[in-house]
Amino acid sequence: MRWKVTLSDLNYDQRERKIVDRVIKSRWLTMGETVQRLEREFARFVKAKNAIAVSSGTAALHLALRALEIKPGDEVLVPSLSFVASSNAILYVGAKPVFVDISGLNDFNLSCDDLERKITPKTKAVVVVHYGGYLADMEKIKKIARKYRLFIVEDSAHSIGAELNSKMAGTFGEVGCFSFFSNKNLATGEGGMLVTDDDRLARKLKLLRSHGMTSPTLNRHKGHAHSYDVVELGYNYRMTEISAALGLLQLKKLLQANRKRKFLTDLYVRNLEGTKGLSLPFRDYPRKSSYHLFPILLDKNINRKKFMELLKRAGIQSSIHYPPIHKFSYYHKNLKGCNSKLALTEYVGAHEVTLPLHPLLKKEEVNFVCDRIKKIIPRAIG
Ligand SMILES: Cc1ncc(COP(=O)(O)O)c(C=O)c1O
Repeated sequence: MRWKVTLSDLNYDQRERKIVDRVIKSRWLTMGETVQRLEREFARFVKAKNAIAVSSGTAALHLALRALEIKPGDEVLVPSLSFVASSNAILYVGAKPVFVDISGLNDFNLSCDDLERKITPKTKAVVVVHYGGYLADMEKIKKIARKYRLFIVEDSAHSIGAELNSKMAGTFGEVGCFSFFSNKNLATGEGGMLVTDDDRLARKLKLLRSHGMTSPTLNRHKGHAHSYDVVELGYNYRMTEISAALGLLQLKKLLQANRKRKFLTDLYVRNLEGTKGLSLPFRDYPRKSSYHLFPILLDKNINRKKFMELLKRAGIQSSIHYPPIHKFSYYHKNLKGCNSKLALTEYVGAHEVTLPLHPLLKKEEVNFVCDRIKKIIPRAIG
């Protein structure tokens, strides 16, 4: 399928090509000085004490829960309106995901009321997802977490650069987890980052990232160590030097790219506000977004499948964020009681459509998408 307007695109140019070449010429491909530099610069960017680079956002979530010693028998609260990795990571450590509904049709982030209602003596942590780059209500969530002594793990896959009063997404809880997957605001293909102000946790995350080994290969290569011990059951969640080099360039471009995302979001809103048959969530949002997604919510009488099919025929790629996790067959079969009703999540899961948004998108393309939508809506009724 050749799309006229794609959902996302890589914000890459010649510099990314050159940097990959430079890494290859350096003859060192994984967990070297480039990874260390990305960790330093990322930590500075989000104003965190420690940043630990990993192979994906999923790996980051898994390690965060392992390092916090979440274990079988524990419960972890998580929104169902997210990518499945947010709750898979909870299953990886043998704990039980307990799904929380969203706040409302203008705010797809988790509801603090439902969160508090679902806390039991077994609850140990909450995985907070900042949907589409829009920060969840971290002030309220922190209060609840403090009251019930819960860890906060932020799934900040969408929210690199989002902030509240100059405090960056990913730094509100014990650990923040970022994804550098191809469609993210900072894209390296695969890759991820953990951030934490807790030095002890950072040391543990570093161990777990590479098989629990006390000395990384680079140290031995440089002659700083000749052997190692294994002190944890760890994983291979290491980042490559190529990903790190791409990450450094992408980090440089990030703020400008996020500004472009905001400009395009505002343009969509100006074009689509008041259009019959749809509404626009996250209007008048009080926190600074990273504008990762542009979601719209179709009215009940609009057939989403037909709507998306007509967009496709016009050459416009769209997507759904998200099919609710608690409705997936695997979760139904394997997680007792997980299919309790989450009314708002299910409503949004059935009526949401995500429109194209990325820094290379042109304003003419946004205007074209909006123009098509206005023509398509009356044809998608029923
Ligand atoms: C909300 C959310 N959490 C976690 C992930 C997992 O990240 P990754 O694909 O880097 O493993 C993603 C990414 O796709 C995501 O969108």
